[in-house]
Amino acid sequence: MSHVQSGTLTRGPSTLFLDTLDGSVADKPPIWLMRQAGRYLPEYREMRATAPSFLDFCYNPKLASEATLQPIRRFGFDAAILFSDILVIPDALGQTVSFETGHGPRLDPLIDAADVDQLHAEIDMNRLSPVLETVTRAKAMLGPATPLIGFCGAPWTVASYMIAGRGTPDQAPARLFAYRHPDLFQRLIDRLVDASVTYLTAQVSAGVDAIQIFDSWAGVLPTLEYERWCLRPVQTLVTRLRVACPTIRIIAFPRATGRQLIQAADGQVSALGLDTSVDVEWANRVMPHNLTLQGNLDPLALVAGGEGLDHAITRILKGFAGRPHVFNLGHGILPETPIAHVEHLVARVRAGL
Ligand code: CP3
Repeated sequence: MSHVQSGTLTRGPSTLFLDTLDGSVADKPPIWLMRQAGRYLPEYREMRATAPSFLDFCYNPKLASEATLQPIRRFGFDAAILFSDILVIPDALGQTVSFETGHGPRLDPLIDAADVDQLHAEIDMNRLSPVLETVTRAKAMLGPATPLIGFCGAPWTVASYMIAGRGTPDQAPARLFAYRHPDLFQRLIDRLVDASVTYLTAQVSAGVDAIQIFDSWAGVLPTLEYERWCLRPVQTLVTRLRVACPTIRIIAFPRATGRQLIQAADGQVSALGLDTSVDVEWANRVMPHNLTLQGNLDPLALVAGGEGLDHAITRILKGFAGRPHVFNLGHGILPETPIAHVEHLVARVRAGL
């Protein structure tokens, strides 16, 4: 076991997942799945039915810590991810957020300067204290063998929901807003960077071992807009988080950004999450050799199962053999995924090539 001391923070015991984020190469990669806690699990659906709303569930440390542990108990993944949502940040900035079953998130959309200026200047950490309690509880339940991943949405992705007020196919409302009112949009992004730094620092203090920044909608922007609204704000966020938490491992997930993934490999993040569209051989060739890559099985291959799934698993294992790699999906697991296929995937990855 290694305990690395840096600044005032001590790193906990080493594990396959954390060692891989630190650049170690194992003969079999660690595995966890994005959105591994959630609706494809019958035990989650049963527990979810006891809470009046999804946000109530997220702010209930007893339920949320249990949901964090469920996929670990069932599949023995190499890391757990905090059960929460990226939209707790708008909620803690004073925007009205709710989730309608079957329809996804609903927020009071931000339309003009008055709406943006009405948000709290600083994130209300009292509102988020149950999430931090979930971290403390989940850490105690997990013990030292399974690390806990904290997370937030990247400023662009969170802003896109704040402006549209709902999920959209292409985030057109936020793109229009950013073209029409760049200064106002910059103010919103800056506020989200501040809020994310405060929130992530608190997650680290509460005990998370690594952080993932979900930029799920990075891929809808043209080059220059991607640099301005995704790349730079995430770089600022990461730099500021590292001042507060020098040793924290950080995984960036700028989804669907194609060749611009190369820019995200900036030496500041511990790992880059690859979405389904990224070619394994290309990524292996162009990415720095010591950079950990995470991904990138198509969630639909996992739904389908059978030979298609086996081929896809083999291709990823082969493609990333010899470099630090965390096995994962290229996006979140789908609610219709059969449990047996997840069991098969874990067995295959554990067996190695
Ligand atoms: O297991 C985990 O990964 C931890 C929990 C987690 C949730 N959301 C729980 C959730 C995480 C990491 C997220 C991230 C998240 N939330 C993202 C980024 C990742 C991605 O998938 O792109 C985004 C864009 C959101 C916003 C969000 N939350 C949407 C669009 C929706 C509705 C659509 C959907 O997938 O259901 C949610 C709701 C949500 N977040 C659910 C869960 C388990 C389903 C709600 C329910 O169970 O009632």
